Amino acid sequence: MNIVKRPRRLRVNGTIRSIVRETKLSVDDLVYPLFVVEGENIKDEIKSMKGNYRFSIDKLLEEIKEIEELSIKSVLLFGIPNHKDKCGSQAYDEDGIIQKAVRAIKLKFPKMYVITDICMCEYTSHGHCGILTEEGYVDNDKTLEYLSKIAVSHALAGADMVAPSDMMDGRVGHIRESLDKAGYVNVPIMAYSAKYASAFYGPFRDAADSAPSFGDRKSYQMDPCNVKEAIREVELDIEEGADIVMVKPALPYLDVIRKVKDEFNMPIAAYNVSGEYSMIKMAVDNGLLNESAIMESLISIKRAGAEIIITYFAKYAAEKLRTQL
Ligand code: PBG
Repeated sequence: MNIVKRPRRLRVNGTIRSIVRETKLSVDDLVYPLFVVEGENIKDEIKSMKGNYRFSIDKLLEEIKEIEELSIKSVLLFGIPNHKDKCGSQAYDEDGIIQKAVRAIKLKFPKMYVITDICMCEYTSHGHCGILTEEGYVDNDKTLEYLSKIAVSHALAGADMVAPSDMMDGRVGHIRESLDKAGYVNVPIMAYSAKYASAFYGPFRDAADSAPSFGDRKSYQMDPCNVKEAIREVELDIEEGADIVMVKPALPYLDVIRKVKDEFNMPIAAYNVSGEYSMIKMAVDNGLLNESAIMESLISIKRAGAEIIITYFAKYAAEKLRTQL
């Protein structure tokens, strides 16, 4: 007798569906990115990223309290300085915006795991991610010295982890050596290993005021057409001492996440970037998509192989996960 096979049996109700569920999102997977500005009493909504704000440190602390109450364990900080110059000096200043923010958070919320983005584009007057040559090319090896200085200054301020997002060659090794020399052997590096030159960073550049004043980032960020190159980049970062490797953006690069997952025995992070956020947020807010699209897209990133998801939806997802079941 030809019995009908009935996969629907395991979909009959919510209980059995949750029992056979293969991929589960947990609040532990989430990292929430935050933007910090100089000043006081500032909580400015970012136009291109509704529901996200630029915070002055006093307001940032209120936000961290909410985040902690939602059981989110980790934040990724981006600083927007008042003053920019050719060498991004505010990025490594002891009293730079990030250094002050990290100290303030760790003082009041010592358990909050603070990751800092290591890059120069928010701090340079030209908006590129490093030091420029006369011809306007980002000088790789000179930039490494600065990136290391920035990383050590963040560790000194109390950062739990640093995340270089610049895509210079050799930066993970350089930063690792500098952190170790300064005594921060236990500060891990989450490397933006496969970071693509993507149009999906658009809203972030508005938020962080970090768009390049000329040209683009294609001479350091990766070509969206390449996967083998992503594997090579990840391999190099692991050799140089990365503790976590990242693929960025996430949704348009799920294949890259899966490939990295299959090739390497490493924790993998994926950055669900500003454009991915705004795209879905706008569609949900305007009634074009049901809001379950948010959790569906986060699950797709986890299913692709990422253990860590950096997302502007972290607060939303934490709330959802709390009320589910
Ligand atoms: C800094 C940096 C960028 C993002 C994270 N770190 C912007 C860029 O490379 O232009 C983008 C994050 C996002 O879009 O959410 N280099």
